[in-house]
Amino acid sequence: MSSQEILIEEGVLKGAILHSLWLRERLIGDEFVDPNNLQRLYEPSLLDENLLINNYSIQGKFISITFSDGVKGKISIDELYQEINSVDSIPSKKIWNKKDTLKIFDNNKIFQDSESLIQMLKTFYEYGYVIIENTEAVENEVLNFAEKIGPVRTTNWGKLFNVVSKPNPNDLAYTALELKSHSDNPYRKPVPGIQLLHCIANESTGGDSSLVDGFSVAEYLRENNKEFYQILTNTNVNFKFTDVDVILENKSKLIELDDDGKFRQISFSGRLDYVPYLNQEKLKTFYKARKYMYELCNSDQFKIKFRLSKGMIAMFDNLRTLHGRTKFDPNTGFRHLQGCYIDHDSTEGKLRRLLK
Ligand code: OGA
Ligand code: ZN
Repeated sequence: MSSQEILIEEGVLKGAILHSLWLRERLIGDEFVDPNNLQRLYEPSLLDENLLINNYSIQGKFISITFSDGVKGKISIDELYQEINSVDSIPSKKIWNKKDTLKIFDNNKIFQDSESLIQMLKTFYEYGYVIIENTEAVENEVLNFAEKIGPVRTTNWGKLFNVVSKPNPNDLAYTALELKSHSDNPYRKPVPGIQLLHCIANESTGGDSSLVDGFSVAEYLRENNKEFYQILTNTNVNFKFTDVDVILENKSKLIELDDDGKFRQISFSGRLDYVPYLNQEKLKTFYKARKYMYELCNSDQFKIKFRLSKGMIAMFDNLRTLHGRTKFDPNTGFRHLQGCYIDHDSTEGKLRRLLK
């Protein structure tokens, strides 16, 4: 008998109820989608809203269906399963703390074959960072490297920025001061997804690097202090950057959750945040919570410390991994990093394509 949905009684989809239009839209023959790009050749909103499934049968890994508009087709059960269960080839995140070993890759190996690049990108998505060694320690090399992974995000600073200690800097990164664990540019819309920092010279005393898994800190907060977690995941903070020709602003929670309550983004930069005008009780709690988060982000429990030396690149997920450096003495030697940003969509997309 015709019906608008079918109940799958066996196999991996056991218990799934599949709607006629939902199935009809998933037909992938040449008459439905362009084989070059898998984009639909018809307007799905114009399908009959009362479309029925006249009959169907399951053969092996496929469902064959005849719809009431006369269209017949076959749909892969594995693909339906993956879609229903949001199975993605991007690996799931692994929470880490300072006990984990540093994830280091060799620039001479990662571009040799696709398997090596896959390993590097998978590790990047699992841990939220990778360190690359053996790159050429010359200016602009960070762009050559970045462009092998994804298009560089140009900002009002151009394609790259130079981290050197200089007089009258427009950002405290361009001094010799210590930088506590922070995320970069939380005032941008959108916040840059991936950051690369390339070391051209690090001959000064000091200037050591650190990384922290912001999601690990967020998880610790969730488990150990519900009140702090609650206020940090619900209070919109204004992040602001003031320069001669722009004032950039963006609001976000220090711990941003997605619709499923999973961690989406950490924004943390004590140099740049403006706490909203809240009632006194909330403000008191917020300030305690932020202080606690600051302490965790800068504690030896969470921080991996290392030295970014000449020829090394730190590539990290700026929406998850916080970074910092110790102060350095510019009189003891030259220190020069170059940095740039790339977006997650192209990098994720590259990994998905490599895995197909
Ligand atoms: C930055 C930064 C780290 C460093 O430029 O945003 O965090 O090691 N630099 O200088
Ligand atoms: Zn930074």
